[in-house]
Amino acid sequence: MSHSYIKALLNTEPTGQIVQAKGWVRTKRGNKAISFIAINDGSTIHNIQVVAENSSFDESLLKNITTGACIAVQGKLVASQGQGQKVEMQATQIEIYGTADPETFPLQKKGHTMEFLRDIAHLRPRTNTFGAVFRIRHTMAYAINHYFHTNGFFYIHTPIITGSDAEGAGEMFRVTTLDLNKPPRNDDGTIDYSQDFFAKETNLTVSGQLEGELAAMALGKIYTFGPTFRAENSNTPRHLAEFWMIEPEMAFFDLNDNMDLAEDMLKYLVRYALDSCMDDLEFLNNMYDKELIGRLRSVIENPFKRLTYTEAINVLEPNNSKFEYKVSWGADLQKEHENFLVEHFKTPVILTDYPAAIKAFYMKQNDDGKTVRAMDILFPWIGEIIGGSQREENYNKLVSRMQAMHIPEKEMWWYLDTRRFGACPHSGFGLGFERLMLFVTGMNNIRDVIPFPRTPRNAEF
Ligand code: 4AD
Ligand code: MG
Repeated sequence: MSHSYIKALLNTEPTGQIVQAKGWVRTKRGNKAISFIAINDGSTIHNIQVVAENSSFDESLLKNITTGACIAVQGKLVASQGQGQKVEMQATQIEIYGTADPETFPLQKKGHTMEFLRDIAHLRPRTNTFGAVFRIRHTMAYAINHYFHTNGFFYIHTPIITGSDAEGAGEMFRVTTLDLNKPPRNDDGTIDYSQDFFAKETNLTVSGQLEGELAAMALGKIYTFGPTFRAENSNTPRHLAEFWMIEPEMAFFDLNDNMDLAEDMLKYLVRYALDSCMDDLEFLNNMYDKELIGRLRSVIENPFKRLTYTEAINVLEPNNSKFEYKVSWGADLQKEHENFLVEHFKTPVILTDYPAAIKAFYMKQNDDGKTVRAMDILFPWIGEIIGGSQREENYNKLVSRMQAMHIPEKEMWWYLDTRRFGACPHSGFGLGFERLMLFVTGMNNIRDVIPFPRTPRNAEF
């Protein structure tokens, strides 16, 4: 017979019908006569309880049903006698697919620390917490594609290997097939990349934006959603060396249109999580963060506060005594300043018009000659969740900015071509997928919202 998923079984009217379930044993308890086995198959946070009369099964089989083992159970679906579940299974047949030696299986019943679970990231999806997180992660990825599709955007797959540094920050991972022990060299001693696989220097991308812009100049509204890589040595709970980014890019959008889209998208995603992942959110809310669901609701109910960087500095400066890093106009905002603003306005904040000097070369220059049409969205606890801007569409202004920032213009000829042929006002932004996940799950560390985190000195699994 074909087996049923536990999520479906738990929502089935029990009439004593014969069903089969397959999954991993979470707990086994009982007495001489009866065993209660809780199994989980990942379809839901909830387990199904299997009741087995010990006399009906081999002693050795029962002994091998321990936490972590994988089993298939056939039996009657009945109303549960006990508390905590509506239905349970009375087992008639049990097959063990794989045992899990209790002496060595690391995930016993007791609560483990997040640090310990990171060391066993190959097994942590089998915990309630990570099951919940990864189901929510899937649902958010689906909702993102759904949101853009229904709003007339096209999904563009931008390259992972690139020859350009989109953010101009130089935090890239080199891609090469050269022998690092004896690379070919030019006469001046520098490495001769003309002999490398691509006959040029290449890296893992930090952003799909530049290629996204090319597509927006043809398809109107596009988005990318893929892995991006940053070799920044930031060992913080909010930075990964490999993270996923959602980057929409829209022709004919100015900065206000861009902000409207970003706010609408974030609210849609949070609402989607509340509508589709309540079991998992309730678990996380009860287990770790009693304010999680309330915080999610408050974000969708209230308009985000929009103000310029200069206005934000005017709010922050009088409070400098509270900050480790004092702010003044021109300073890059630190986490503590972002938190202060979000607390101050009691809602997510969109900051615009940053000083040009602290933002990327492609942002549209304001007439004041000092600021650019940037926007960052700041979220409670997370800080920056979105970074974006209106783009500079004027060829000469863009080139002079690139020169000032030492961006090699020759290599970017294809990007500059969009400003030579049919240029138009356009805008876009990048949402860090794991930052969104931090917000939606309430988890404290970005390493715990991606299955296999890559951070400085860590690329296990
Ligand atoms: O602000 P960033 O660097 O912007 C860009 O990359 C633009 N090209 C986006 C665009 O306009 N299309 O990064 C965008 C977002 C940040 O707001 C943050 O949420 C996330 O990406 N992010 C990171 N997430 C995890 N680990 C890191 N090291 C991150 N760096 C940025
Ligand atoms: Mg940024």
